[in-house]
Amino acid sequence: MRNDQFLKACRREKTDYTPVWLMRQAGRYLKEYRKIRSKVDFLTMCKTPDLAAEVTLQPIDIIGVDAAIIFADILLPLEPMGINLEFAKNEGPVINNPVRSSNDVDALRHINTDEELPFLPEAIRIVKKELNGKVPLIGFSGAPFTLASYIIEGGGSRNYIHAKKMMYTEPETWNKLMDKISTVIINYLLAQINAGAETVQLFDSWVGCLSVKDYQQYVLPHSKKIIDGIKKEGNVPIIHFGTNTTTLLPSMKKAGGDVLGLDWRINLDEGWEKIGFDTSVQGNIDPVILFSNPELIEDRVKDILKRAGGRPGHIFNLGHGILPETPVDNVKALVNMVHELSAK
Ligand code: CP3
Repeated sequence: MRNDQFLKACRREKTDYTPVWLMRQAGRYLKEYRKIRSKVDFLTMCKTPDLAAEVTLQPIDIIGVDAAIIFADILLPLEPMGINLEFAKNEGPVINNPVRSSNDVDALRHINTDEELPFLPEAIRIVKKELNGKVPLIGFSGAPFTLASYIIEGGGSRNYIHAKKMMYTEPETWNKLMDKISTVIINYLLAQINAGAETVQLFDSWVGCLSVKDYQQYVLPHSKKIIDGIKKEGNVPIIHFGTNTTTLLPSMKKAGGDVLGLDWRINLDEGWEKIGFDTSVQGNIDPVILFSNPELIEDRVKDILKRAGGRPGHIFNLGHGILPETPVDNVKALVNMVHELSAK
């Protein structure tokens, strides 16, 4: 590996500078992405290994980040489970047959990623070959709560009423669903690791809607089971990410990942202290700061680096995914600033 700064930071080893990558770095803010996307729909892009590999590599050359993340989606494993998934124009994901009952959960199938989603390991193999050790590759999956909330709600949600109602009133059905999703996630992540992913990230994007008590009771055992399962067989660092998780961080740490994601709502040093300095952290600039100007961005980068205090185990990232209209020049400037201002 020619640039192993990211992997070193995952393992809390000393680095020459703070490594940086950006969640959703392969996406619509890049004209090179939009050019390909103008010809094919999003799911077709994910399912065509050459295209998925091409857009995965775009931000490595254009933005200069220290890690690649495979182009895919957290919702891809749902289709072979029996979920009818659509990405409606300007609406985000829509699930036409949401899961609401014990029978619905029983009808969901377990999946074998290599057989049913062969395009994903294939895209990973192409990316690895093209990267040829330039930077490491991150694989990823949704975490069980975020996937369950999509499956039950049928799409994005404001209050998660259906998901929480199942959790509170039918805990057996809830646990059966979470168990099934967790088994699928372990298979999905191990297939990515076996194809060459050097790290995996669990995206629990919506878990911040839960109280600490509910997180510990209904979610933590499942997330922990996944991380334990990957650790046993995969031997790669695991990044555990959520948003709105300020109160959940100590509980999320109990799930056992190597790196915990922080969003911008908490100061990096305060978040890191809550977690403990024996775990790496990733974050945490507000993605909307990239719509401002280089002066303000520099100010915020300096603040985050100062809060990281030169400790080993900081990976610079946004607090959540990069947004479609983000000015590319500001993104390039951000990556340069992180590299220059953190160089030892
Ligand atoms: O980080 C990367 O560059 C890798 C690719 C990646 C995508 N989705 C591609 C994508 C990753 C890591 C994801 C994860 C994902 N997908 C999450 C967790 C991360 C987060 O932001 O919280 C979630 C919640 C999803 C589900 C999802 N997929 C939504 C809500 C949407 C629509 C919203 C939107 O941004 O339009 C998608 C579609 C999607 N996934 C796009 C991309 C590039 C946009 C598709 C397009 O080109 O039209």
